[in-house]
Amino acid sequence: MSRRRRIYEGKAKVLYEGPEPGTLIQHFKDDATAFNAKKHQVIDGKGVLNNRISEFIFQKLNDIGVPTHFIRRMNMREQLIREVEIIPLEVVVRNVAAGSLSTRLGIEEGTQLPRSIIEFYYKNDQLNDPLVSEEHVTAFGWATPQEIDDIIALAIRVNDFLSGLFLGVGIRLVDFKMECGRLWENDMMRIVVADEISPDCCRLWDMKSGDKMDKDRFRKDMGGLIEAYTEVARRLGILGENERPQGSGPILVKG
Ligand SMILES: Nc1ncnc2c1ncn2[C@@H]1O[C@H](COP(=O)(O)OP(=O)(O)OP(=O)(O)O)[C@@H](O)[C@H]1O
Ligand SMILES: [Mg+2]
Repeated sequence: MSRRRRIYEGKAKVLYEGPEPGTLIQHFKDDATAFNAKKHQVIDGKGVLNNRISEFIFQKLNDIGVPTHFIRRMNMREQLIREVEIIPLEVVVRNVAAGSLSTRLGIEEGTQLPRSIIEFYYKNDQLNDPLVSEEHVTAFGWATPQEIDDIIALAIRVNDFLSGLFLGVGIRLVDFKMECGRLWENDMMRIVVADEISPDCCRLWDMKSGDKMDKDRFRKDMGGLIEAYTEVARRLGILGENERPQGSGPILVKG
């Protein structure tokens, strides 16, 4: 590896200094974590798949005028992004009940929600990323009311785009998490979509079988995570019929 300056190492990715000021290189690792990293495993090939899937989604968002941090993919595991000031919120959009919403409110998994619901979680591992309200967000200065409006508008556009994208390939977008950041251009600031959008941060259910094609396979010890992510990539047209992501280990051939 080169001697690039490492800016940050998280659970799933590493950020390096980019080639120009205001840019970063986002490197996707194979590490999978859940339950605030209490559960951890290295899954050979996951980073390669997430890099490709996230590239595909962010490029399409850029193409339809949804501003993102994404500039271009550099290699199998890395992409060039614009450095932003991350807003310390996980923005979750839900279309169908699952996960913590089902647990907290006693709504059966798989129930279609009356409308899409947007939730904010405060990004803080020590506190287990607690659910917060807009009141908390503004009172503690994590984002201004205007910024919250911009974030909600972005979240709705991303949800509509992703729902349609996945519907077209037979996948139900149950929910997803996104992060936003402040990007300055001269004296102007705008909110853009940052981080990644991949099966690590979405719930994706096959429309016919109901099979999970996302990180719940890891959370629930179901196995077959790489096969599921590969299938998502294949359906989106990112991988050819027989192509396998480089850096992935042997794939079990089902008998
Ligand atoms: N464009 C960007 N500019 C600056 N930071 C970014 C950008 N995009 C994503 N990040 C941050 O880079 C980190 C990516 O690493 P990773 O996803 O592995 O972190 P993590 O372990 O999930 O921790 P965190 O709780 O901070 O997300 C995250 O902290 C994310 O908020
Ligand atoms: Mg993260």
